[in-house]
Amino acid sequence: MSIFNKLYLIKWCWVRLSLNHYFESYGKSDDRRFLEKIIFKEIFCGKQAKILFVGVHPESEWYSKIWSNNPRIRYECIDPVYKKLNREDFYRSRIQDLYGVEDFQGKYDIVIMNGVFGYGINEPKDIEDSLAAAKYIMKSDAVLIVGYRKSDQFCDVDTKRIEELFKKVNIPGVKNHRQENLHSNGHCFVAYKK
Ligand SMILES: C[S@@+](CC[C@H](N)C(=O)[O-])C[C@H]1O[C@@H](n2cnc3c(N)ncnc32)[C@H](O)[C@@H]1O
Repeated sequence: MSIFNKLYLIKWCWVRLSLNHYFESYGKSDDRRFLEKIIFKEIFCGKQAKILFVGVHPESEWYSKIWSNNPRIRYECIDPVYKKLNREDFYRSRIQDLYGVEDFQGKYDIVIMNGVFGYGINEPKDIEDSLAAAKYIMKSDAVLIVGYRKSDQFCDVDTKRIEELFKKVNIPGVKNHRQENLHSNGHCFVAYKK
């Protein structure tokens, strides 16, 4: 582990303490804990990165507070309808609309699409267009992290289609490409590179 990683690990511990109220808020699901405590920790202690977080929710609105403690991370989010945010790092738009916008081409090191399939990106065309946009805005070695619900009855997104467009990689923080969580909705995380 490099000296930088060690320093950021110490900083991460401080962030966990100072934002404990958010990290430990009541009723938090297992998948949300995994995202915040495993994936975010690995990103926080890792290399310089630009992140796009797709879709915002009251449970994820505070995430910018985490990243404001790390000058090596540029955190941005995008949502077409979310009302509360009015920051310079928030785009009121759909991820699909970034496709073909030159300023966004190859911009991000990490794109996180958690809980957006089945929550607005539902129709086959929207799924195709959003994956094409994710690919367009990712740097050549960027990571796409997808969180989605899967049960015997339904699945938010067909990961076989994602695998036709991207290559499987391990999720930041674990040695698996796919992580199942305890949530009753069968929430899983998967990760990809271009
Ligand atoms: C269940 S919330 C989850 C948000 C967030 N990713 C999280 O993990 O907390 C779904 C959000 O995705 C947003 N959304 C729906 N379609 C979208 C799209 N095409 N591009 C970006 N965000 C979208 C919705 O407006 C909604 O606020």
